[in-house]
Amino acid sequence: MSEAVAAEQRPIRPETADDTGAIDLINMSAFAGDAEARLVDELRKTPAYVPELSLVAEDGGRVAGHLMLFRSTLTGEGNEQTILTLAPTAVVPSRTHRGLGTALVREGVERARQMGFSAIVEVGFPAFYQRLGFRPITEHGLHHDLPVAADFATALEITEGALAGGGRLDYPAPFRAFYRRPVEA
Ligand SMILES: CC(C)(COP(=O)(O)OP(=O)(O)OC[C@H]1O[C@@H](n2cnc3c(N)ncnc32)[C@H](O)[C@@H]1OP(=O)(O)O)[C@@H](O)C(=O)NCCC(=O)NCCS
Repeated sequence: MSEAVAAEQRPIRPETADDTGAIDLINMSAFAGDAEARLVDELRKTPAYVPELSLVAEDGGRVAGHLMLFRSTLTGEGNEQTILTLAPTAVVPSRTHRGLGTALVREGVERARQMGFSAIVEVGFPAFYQRLGFRPITEHGLHHDLPVAADFATALEITEGALAGGGRLDYPAPFRAFYRRPVEA
């Protein structure tokens, strides 16, 4: 099967209201729990939600992957800008290792670029995102007060120099709460 045909059969598009049940199931099965599915539900209720950047990937006519990019704030020296945070990315376990996760991230970055966003931050899964050009936030002089190891967050400049000077990252309340929730046994 050629790449072009493969991409055609696995379209990536913004979520619709009809997708929310499938997105819940994707996140619950990928993360083996409901914390990420609840995070997505909570983020949809905030001004940080960007409907055009909550993307689903179809595979064989079914929704098999999901990625959400939402607004966050970067406060640098004397300036504040709205950037994006990426979380979570999920692919149903039966469809992993077939390029869906990578395609979702690439499409998310491209759509974010077209919408004029200048940078994306990701928290929690550096190995996967570094393959796609994300670098530890510390290399950009960025910091946040989430209780995660410094090298656990990575960032990607969409516009060259967008993160120059670094600064403080602030996330919407559901995302902060996600990292402060009691760890389930
Ligand atoms: C991570 C995830 C989104 C990847 O989706 P995918 O469709 O399998 O991704 P792709 O097929 O595009 O890429 C797979 C490649 O990513 C890399 N990769 C996948 N999981 C990885 C991990 N845990 N650590 C490092 N690299 C990883 C590997 O290089 C892999 O290549 P391979 O298939 O040759 O082994 C998917 O496995 C998933 O939903 N995992 C559970 C949820 C999760 O951890 N999400 C990411 C944090 S938000």
